[in-house]
Amino acid sequence: MKAIVYDGIQDVKVKSVKDPTIEKGDDIIVKVTSTAICGSDLHLVHGMIPNMPKGFVLGHETMGIVEETGKYVEKVKKGDRVIVPFPIACGHCWYCEHDLFSQCDNSNPNGETSGIFGYSNTYGGYDGGQAEYLRVPYGNVGPLKVPEELSDEQILFLTDILPTSYWGVDIGGVKSGDTVVVLGCGPVGLLTIKWAIFKGAKRVIAVDRVGYRLKHALEKYKVEAVNFEEHDNTGEYIKEITRGGADVVIDCVGMDGKMSTFEKIETMLKLQGGSKSAIEIATQAVRKGGTVVLVGVYGSKYNLFPLGDFFARNITLKMGQCPAHAYVEHILNLIKDGKFDATDIITHKLSLDEGKHAYEIFDKKSDDCIKVILKP
Ligand SMILES: NC(=O)c1ccc[n+]([C@@H]2O[C@H](COP(=O)([O-])OP(=O)(O)OC[C@H]3O[C@@H](n4cnc5c(N)ncnc54)[C@H](O)[C@@H]3O)[C@@H](O)[C@H]2O)c1
Ligand SMILES: [Zn+2]
Ligand SMILES: [Zn+2]
Repeated sequence: MKAIVYDGIQDVKVKSVKDPTIEKGDDIIVKVTSTAICGSDLHLVHGMIPNMPKGFVLGHETMGIVEETGKYVEKVKKGDRVIVPFPIACGHCWYCEHDLFSQCDNSNPNGETSGIFGYSNTYGGYDGGQAEYLRVPYGNVGPLKVPEELSDEQILFLTDILPTSYWGVDIGGVKSGDTVVVLGCGPVGLLTIKWAIFKGAKRVIAVDRVGYRLKHALEKYKVEAVNFEEHDNTGEYIKEITRGGADVVIDCVGMDGKMSTFEKIETMLKLQGGSKSAIEIATQAVRKGGTVVLVGVYGSKYNLFPLGDFFARNITLKMGQCPAHAYVEHILNLIKDGKFDATDIITHKLSLDEGKHAYEIFDKKSDDCIKVILKP
């Protein structure tokens, strides 16, 4: 089959690879109808995630039709249309039973977090879904059957960025009347803005430096937009215009944010897990006693991490991989009822064969690219 594979840093190719097969009795094989590229894939392509061998099939935002099921699968059957949440979870360990599916104890032999599709050996070594077919382990847990009347575009993002953005707002405790700052206006940041508004936030401030993405937030969602390149100290600026800071700041940037020269050198030398430019803005932009959520993905070590700034101002810091399974049904119902729609962020629909180009425009923020959907 055809698949998008990682072939080294900044090198993504469409290649022919072996078809996946049922390996365990509760596996299913999905014939992919739509798959998307995520900011998390860019961390892989930039060489920021360890243990990523050449030839690894990418992709963790995938939906399609069940092609084959293992003998113990009861939740779905051949022909069902399903979305597949990005964390791989067993469904019965302590963490899965407590809705922390992204910390499943059983799905990743190589680490403490759950496995993730297409996300290196560190996350379990599972092939990804930017391909014609995907093997899905724990077929009785992850895949969710979706109604025929909803289009792929309406529900594909249930696999990751819809639950992820919802979760960020949820664990941040955003409530009616709040002021919320969203750092990063990529797909995750833009949906986070929409959920903050959905939860009744009174004032939302969107921060990025990419003009067309800020424009999307400003014009489509009618929120305030701040270009962080236009301020010497964006955090202080936000503190000033909000008279003391926002109730909640949600970082939707992560380790590939703008880096200082010092951070670039340290990151190259593997002394640093990447950028912390968004965290630095967050420490100042949040009010005393407020909450900062790191939805953006970070590496392991951070020199000069502004811990004291968080401590001195009694800030609550929350973070991690989204336990997507815990949210998919609730969000699916909101979409079904016409209460939430995420299709406005889709700027490109391309074929899987155009995968290399798709990665390029998403990474370079060219051609006004926000979110790409690929059709095998
Ligand atoms: N925690 C999870 O479960 C989870 C799930 C999905 C994605 N993510 C992460 O969310 C992040 C965003 O994903 P995306 O698909 O929107 O990626 P993206 O790369 O399209 O968007 C990131 C945006 O941040 C902007 N940016 C860079 N530095 C900034 C700064 N200092 N302040 C404000 N904005 C800045 C960039 O210009 C870009 O528009 C990534 O780190 C991704 O890995 C996390
Ligand atoms: Zn993703
Ligand atoms: Zn588990």
